Amino acid sequence: MDSILITGNGPLKGTTHASGAKNAALPILASSLLAEGTHTFRNVPALADVSTMLKVLTTMGAKSERLSGKKSSICEIEVGKKVTPEAPYELVKTMRASVLVLGPLVARWGRARVSMPGGCAIGARPIDQHLKGLAKLGAEIELHEGYVEARAKRLKGGTVAFDLITVTGTENVMMAASLAKGRTIIENAAREPEVEELARVLNKMGARISGAGTDVITIDGVEGLKPVDHAIIADRIEAGTLLCAAAITGGDVLVQHAVPEHLEAVLHKLREIGCKVTVEHDGIRLVGPARVSPADIKTREHPGFPTDMQAQLMAVLATASGTSVITENIFENRFMHVAELRRLGADITAEGNTAVVRGQAKLSGAPVMATDLRASASLVLAGLKAEGKTLVGRVYHLDRGYERLEKKLKALGANIRRVKG
Ligand code: EPZ
Repeated sequence: MDSILITGNGPLKGTTHASGAKNAALPILASSLLAEGTHTFRNVPALADVSTMLKVLTTMGAKSERLSGKKSSICEIEVGKKVTPEAPYELVKTMRASVLVLGPLVARWGRARVSMPGGCAIGARPIDQHLKGLAKLGAEIELHEGYVEARAKRLKGGTVAFDLITVTGTENVMMAASLAKGRTIIENAAREPEVEELARVLNKMGARISGAGTDVITIDGVEGLKPVDHAIIADRIEAGTLLCAAAITGGDVLVQHAVPEHLEAVLHKLREIGCKVTVEHDGIRLVGPARVSPADIKTREHPGFPTDMQAQLMAVLATASGTSVITENIFENRFMHVAELRRLGADITAEGNTAVVRGQAKLSGAPVMATDLRASASLVLAGLKAEGKTLVGRVYHLDRGYERLEKKLKALGANIRRVKG
């Protein structure tokens, strides 16, 4: 298992870029099952989770090829007439977003057998809303030996009112409804930019979707969809993470391709703690202060402050000139980075879904352990600021959602390298 070794090395400076969005790429790759033919997806990030999704698709009989383009990696997926509509436990247990094949399989192939995703480090993460939504469209759902078995001759449109806001639940139902007979209305839909991006791709395939990005999405089912050529939007969470690297080190960094509208709550918070954030023609620039001020954070569904940026901002606030209170409202166990940040000298107390962060002028390097994707990013950020050496172990967590983060940070002046484990 690889580790990342960081030696605190002062302010980061320069220009970097955000790669394609992981949480847009995953549902978009799954949507290829909806249309026979060869899809071309551009700006596909080279991430472990993307490789897992491609493996799920090829296990079903699709063909995939990664062509490394000049600027970004291009991925071609060929879906034929025959597909084995099954997603095995071995794959789903490594990435719960594999459940995103459920909607497309039932809609186009009439049946699906997908392993129930287990929980993960940050929470139980059930998929009851996904199943309730598909059942509303007429799918017969059975749970059998740890697998979801779903069947439907032809899905029928209906109203799906989610009991709670779910990003992949909204995406699964939107994909299924694209080929259902009649109109589907999704109420209490997730409003994340990645949901909007998926709707853009589905409409390019010939779907008839409106309202994506709001809490009510209308889908008029069509008889068939066609393959698509699409470039995926930039990853707003990676962009936010790179901006936090500038904030915590008092640096001056431009993150190209970052879309300000996708990150408003995060940019607002970074300004609130004393960062100078400007929107440039090709991205977002952040100039960090010598020391950030404290601020309170409450994570919320989009357009609120994203839970996927909570751990990163906690690392920044661990060095603030006062006390901040962070409330995690989305996942029940997303403070695993607290114990590791404390090893670096942070003064943080977590109780339930609230963490009190008493800012420290100094952090000091130590060996720490990554526990989940965004926690590992938080530890890397703290290592950039900590005096001395920080060794972040189990960075396979990081590789799930960041395309060689250490290379991007090194290019900005960080003293950082991967240690092969
Ligand atoms: C997506 O996960 C993202 N993943 C997550 O990003 C992100 O943290 C999350 O949305 C919230 O923004 C992808 O898009 C691939 P949810 P998802 O369904 O869809 C509960 C990262 O770091 N819930 O919106 O799985 C659930 O337990 C990852 O990139 C149910 O109870 O999240 C959670 O508490 C981590 N029943 C809340 O809703 C359901 O059927 C939000 O979950 C579905 C969800």
